[in-house]
Amino acid sequence: MSISAIARPDDADIVIFGASGDLSKRKLLPALAHMYRWNLIARSSRIIGVVRQPEDAERWREHVHAALLQYAPDTLADAQLWQGFARMLHPLLGDLEDPETYVRLSRIVEDSDTSKNALFYFAIPPAYYHLTARNLHRAGLTREEAGWRRLIIEKPFGMDLDSARQLNRCLLSYFNESQIYRIDHYLGKESVQNLLAFRFANAVLEPLWNRNYIDHVQITVAERIGIEYRGKYYEKAGALRDMVQNHLLQLMALVAMEPPAKINATAVRNEKIKVLQSIHRMTPDEVRTHAVRAQYGAGMIDGEPVRGYRWEKDVAHDSNTETFVALKLYIDNWRWQGVPFFLRTGKRLPSRVSEIAIRFRQAPLNMFKHTSSTIVPNELVFRLQPNAGMSLGLNAKKPGLTMRLHPLQLDAPYVEHDESLPEAYETLLYDVLLGDATLFNRADEVEEAWKVVAPIMDVWSETRKITLYPAGTWDIPGMDELIAGHEGGWRTL
Ligand code: BG6
Repeated sequence: MSISAIARPDDADIVIFGASGDLSKRKLLPALAHMYRWNLIARSSRIIGVVRQPEDAERWREHVHAALLQYAPDTLADAQLWQGFARMLHPLLGDLEDPETYVRLSRIVEDSDTSKNALFYFAIPPAYYHLTARNLHRAGLTREEAGWRRLIIEKPFGMDLDSARQLNRCLLSYFNESQIYRIDHYLGKESVQNLLAFRFANAVLEPLWNRNYIDHVQITVAERIGIEYRGKYYEKAGALRDMVQNHLLQLMALVAMEPPAKINATAVRNEKIKVLQSIHRMTPDEVRTHAVRAQYGAGMIDGEPVRGYRWEKDVAHDSNTETFVALKLYIDNWRWQGVPFFLRTGKRLPSRVSEIAIRFRQAPLNMFKHTSSTIVPNELVFRLQPNAGMSLGLNAKKPGLTMRLHPLQLDAPYVEHDESLPEAYETLLYDVLLGDATLFNRADEVEEAWKVVAPIMDVWSETRKITLYPAGTWDIPGMDELIAGHEGGWRTL
């Protein structure tokens, strides 16, 4: 999130551990190719892909070309562009467990003709984080003598509070906090960053942004896809760890935080953590009434039958892993006391929608009740995807001779086409190259977010039974009861 005009990052060696993996193929390499195309990466930078198999090393450029063809074909439209990008690509054959790999990497980085800056991207299974960080350290690659050294680490950041603490301790014994960029790709989405602009550049909102005017907030991230090929990971994670602990709590923190002293990494993250610290920790009884989980069964998506979660690859036939979560959370502070934040996320739902809806309190008196028995509460919606934009729901007079009301939507698309927005990974990689950590999680934030979900995980780990919902529907047992009594109920998506 460059605050100034487009800044030009320093040149650097961008070292991807797990360069032939899925994340690299789908997200990182397409993002880097786009950055190259838009001149957001210094031409003298190198992209060093660490791969394990000799054939992957020999054919890495071909693999990258194939990945771009699939995920970023626009970067191949100009042959010269591809040739330029391909010149940046340098495979490095090596085993993560072998210290020799890092000695060779160190030589490559030190041999650079230009800067000795290096960015290490851990696109590897979490089980390798510790070992890889230690080996980088032992090879002297974490020391910032000749240039900066930065680490990007992917989620899941631990599987619970203890493992997250352990991981933080481990990383912080090899790197300084200022060198570590814990990625949450939701923070890289344009429309999520726009929340900051919208909240803190518009004076009209601030007087309304509190318990006096807001009835509740709904944050939804709904997906149509199932767990795809990620059964092994998902079985251990579930929707609470996979989505709520990170993406949804981050969105909640951005909506609820106080204005930061400045828009910079320290100030923004200081405010977000105050929100996370103030989220009321559920008691076991509250977990039973304020948290809903469910798992998708067989159903229909786009008119096609799809199988239930328990029949997905690498999933146990008696699995109780949740693929849907809805929570009612409260923030114990002056601004939000008594205002519920409803968070819901799930897979195999009827639509793909990510949005934040602010539902305002009802007007104090219906002066039109002789013609309109109900008036709808006002609602401000930030659509994150698809069709990023905002809408405000108001009541207006229905044209005609009688004084009847009807809902009126003021709708403002954020851009004409979502495709013209930079991908989250482009924004985030660019920020790391600039050394801006505003959109990354600090160690204490990650731990605090685990503390929010820990009481829920505890209760759920003791109760094995999980209810099912038919794929492609919102027929989720308990979901409506959670919001009962609050203005307007769930939004229909
Ligand atoms: C990831 C989760 O962090 O976010 C996935 O691990 C999920 O399970 C994905 O599908 C959703 O991201 P997006 O950007 O497609 O909304």
